Amino acid sequence: MNKPKPYIVAAFLVLFTLLTIVSGCSGTTTMTTTVPTSLLTTTGETAAQLAEAGFRVFQERCMDCHGMIGEGGPATAIIGPASYVAAYGNAKDLLAFISATMPLDPQRTLSPSQHLQVTVLILLRNNYVTDTMVISNSVLAGIQITKQIYY
Ligand code: HEC
Repeated sequence: MNKPKPYIVAAFLVLFTLLTIVSGCSGTTTMTTTVPTSLLTTTGETAAQLAEAGFRVFQERCMDCHGMIGEGGPATAIIGPASYVAAYGNAKDLLAFISATMPLDPQRTLSPSQHLQVTVLILLRNNYVTDTMVISNSVLAGIQITKQIYY
């Protein structure tokens, strides 16, 4: 797994601290705070449905660092042949990592549902799940992502 480069992480933290202060002053926020935090095992949603919502999360909260289609930008690629997500072992571990650390800024404002949606987007775009797969905790735990799959 690619190690985070400390100076890049530090630069982002400084940037986001400044942005937080600035946005705090103007009193505006683009964050959605009303996303339901229903239990993952009860959603019954397919990968395609989750990924559609996940793309909106990605555009708002991930794209600036990881690139327009996750191909990499200031931060590493998370979608496509150059991505490092295979280092996370299985899909549930990837969800846990993203939930705990991303987006890499001081405003930990994504809901569990949004973390799931954006994780499923990454899984779908990397071909680890298919459109029609109904996603649950146990399904995620069973998806090995140690190998990259590209057609
Ligand atoms: C402020 C910039 C920033 C934002 C915003 C951000 N990330 Fe990251 N992300 C990083 C950095 C930096 C790393 C570590 C890259 C490295 O290993 O050098 C990282 C790593 C990752 C990794 C692991 C890839 C690897 O290289 O090991 C995943 C997956 C990920 N981010 C997903 C997300 C998702 C999903 C979002 C949106 C919810 C997001 N990130 C938003 C900066 C960001």
